Amino acid sequence: MLKIGVFDSGLGGLTVVKALQEVIKGAELFYIADTKNAPYGEKTSEQILQFSLDITQHFIEIHQIDVLIVACNTATSAAIKTLRESYPKLIIIGTEPGIKPAIEQTKSGNIGVLATPATLQGDKYQQLVNTLFMQKDITLFEQACPGLVEQIEKGETETLKTKEMLQAWLQPMKENAVDTIVLGCTHYPLASKIIKELMEEEVNLIHTGEAIAKHLLSLGEKEGHINEGGLEITLHTTDKIDLESVKNILEGIESIKVITL
Ligand code: DGL
Repeated sequence: MLKIGVFDSGLGGLTVVKALQEVIKGAELFYIADTKNAPYGEKTSEQILQFSLDITQHFIEIHQIDVLIVACNTATSAAIKTLRESYPKLIIIGTEPGIKPAIEQTKSGNIGVLATPATLQGDKYQQLVNTLFMQKDITLFEQACPGLVEQIEKGETETLKTKEMLQAWLQPMKENAVDTIVLGCTHYPLASKIIKELMEEEVNLIHTGEAIAKHLLSLGEKEGHINEGGLEITLHTTDKIDLESVKNILEGIESIKVITL
């Protein structure tokens, strides 16, 4: 059985797990929601790197994982290079804002990017944008969304406060005929409904869960994984989590264990 470790600062990575549920079979999946240290997007890159290393070490020691999925754009940006250097035998898959599919799909050429402050400030994001932008005439409307992850973690995705925050961030995109928005944080697909409502016009929201699931399947199969049977999911959290939200995102999860790293 393939053993997969997946982590994020909280609920966001479950949007990736949901995509994995559709594709991956015959595997055990261990998820860590590091809610004690959330939000990652407003921490320093040194702190985010340390959280990522601690979680990976835990996955290896306790669950002997074969694959690590960093289901967090912010942690991918801060830690994936060091994780790959520290664990060369582990298959490691990260999460990056889907700028490439957005460029392929936009008609107006105006693309919005919503992400955490840390992701937008990271070198990795800048490199991604620089390489892709040499190819096509595109205007990017980048917007950091400090505080949005906390609202989502509190189960307050559709409150007036959240709507007002998003309204202000989306205004320049609305005024500039943005037709495609990259959800560059795995929490943000949980706010898709309200983002679509606020944009008013038809807008294409890009998130990367499905691409990660397909990528894992192809890497796993190369390693001899047989994609048959069930997917067993165990959820761990380093502090409190909103169980109602967890149940709304994933089907069939009843209990979550709190762990100390
Ligand atoms: N879900 C994470 C991401 O994809 C970050 C959330 C946070 O700021 O903790 O960037």
